[in-house]
Amino acid sequence: MSELALVLDFGGQYKELIAGMVRALSVYSEIRPGDMTVEEIKGLNPIGIILTGGPNSVYLPGSPKCDPAIFKLGIPVLGICYGMHMMCQLLGGEVAPGGIGEYGRVYVTPGELSSKLFRGAKEPFAALMNHRDAVKNLPEGFQTTASTPACIAACENASQNLYGVQFHPEVKHTAGGREIIQRFLYDICGAAGDYKLNDYMDTQIKKIRQKIGGQKVLLALSGGVDSSVCAGLLSKAVPGQLTCIFVDHGFMRLNEGDAIERVFSKGNLQFIRVNAQERFLCKLRGVTEPEKKRKLIGEEFIRVFEEEAAKLGNIPFLAQGTIYPDIVESGGKHGATIKSHHNVGGLPENLAFAEVVEPLSGLFKDEVRILGKKLGLPASLVKRQPFPGPGLAIRVMGSVTEDKLDIIRRADAILREELDGYKSKPDQYFAVLTDTRSVGVKGDDRTYDPVIAVRAVTTGDFMTCEYAPLPHRVLRRISSRITSEIQAVSRVVYDITSKPPATVEWE
Ligand code: XMP
Repeated sequence: MSELALVLDFGGQYKELIAGMVRALSVYSEIRPGDMTVEEIKGLNPIGIILTGGPNSVYLPGSPKCDPAIFKLGIPVLGICYGMHMMCQLLGGEVAPGGIGEYGRVYVTPGELSSKLFRGAKEPFAALMNHRDAVKNLPEGFQTTASTPACIAACENASQNLYGVQFHPEVKHTAGGREIIQRFLYDICGAAGDYKLNDYMDTQIKKIRQKIGGQKVLLALSGGVDSSVCAGLLSKAVPGQLTCIFVDHGFMRLNEGDAIERVFSKGNLQFIRVNAQERFLCKLRGVTEPEKKRKLIGEEFIRVFEEEAAKLGNIPFLAQGTIYPDIVESGGKHGATIKSHHNVGGLPENLAFAEVVEPLSGLFKDEVRILGKKLGLPASLVKRQPFPGPGLAIRVMGSVTEDKLDIIRRADAILREELDGYKSKPDQYFAVLTDTRSVGVKGDDRTYDPVIAVRAVTTGDFMTCEYAPLPHRVLRRISSRITSEIQAVSRVVYDITSKPPATVEWE
């Protein structure tokens, strides 16, 4: 069993980044609810505890709190942002609104006192801040170890192994943030670093073999990273026993369905492609409301999958590419549904299978990608950008038709061709076919065609994003290729909105 670093969740949007960074530093981590009791924590025997940030103010009634006995366990604790406020308040310090607050990149200056977290660094460093409240008075036994002109940026009671940082070491905008987490784990918690992805893979292969024995297993394969890696792992564990059903709903990108078929039909598995384009288009005819489109596609997917599975006779096991964040999110207490996410493969519980196998349910996305690489899957699959389950149907605004899909497929292929090889590639990019038409002129003819929007964003976790500041020459080339290579388009616009307030996808 690996050592465990526990990440206690107080609603912070970066909790998965924290836990992912800890694992990337070879220490196994799990995210658990912030109100876990101290007895439950003792049962898990963690080597360290990290308290996440969160959207609340500690002095408001009802704001989430950890069990204060945590601080007496002798287990090192690192409180981040809200986590630091909560620790300081529960131990007798004072937190108050900090005036205008600090948002974005701020310079933090380590203090005179040498802290294990900063290992003697004296130079100011850039850190991501996102707070209005600040610690005003430290609890007894604590000292300030770093500051900004506006706040106590870090504090500690080293003899009790209690540490707090106001900034977010887990995000890439904090210089040396990863090293701060590393020092907490290794210099303060005394981690040995015994978590290895290879061990996870070997353990899962053994478990799959034990569970499935000589029987058959079925997987809904979407061609996305999770279901593809799941297929790779299963066909390594139980070669010849896996059947994959790929429901092609017709909303895939240019040649994507064929590429998926090519990769998986030569593997050690039975691959069934169901060409259901007509069926899905028919369901969506005249439907314009985004949520309705998403729901209809999700439901139709399940119908098709059920019908195909029934044709295969009795297969006792159903595999799913569920990953750790899916589990954390579904157990989470915070957040509103902005869009219903339809993951192809997210099947209902009442399907007639004896058992479900979810071999990736302990892994973060980055780890799934590494595992995919180890399993020999092509980079085009493993490094694939997120692609929504409903596919291009939610990148065509309003009603979906074959003609519109053809336009968006070609525009999207041009955009990808231009950006795939670009050196500062945004994290996600795609084209959207808007339902606005505009007047243009091509040759001597007046046109009145739909407008294509280009979306390109930088993001760490896709929960928030900034639009990518693509150079004008790149934008010009994209626009010129789309309008000259696609007869039906004479105007291209660039989406310059961040999330929030916009979302990444348009629908
Ligand atoms: P939004 O539009 O919610 O998107 O800001 C955040 C990220 O999620 C992807 N996305 C989806 N992924 N099923 C998925 O698996 C979906 O239904 C879905 N909708 C959005 C989106 O591409 C972005 O990366």
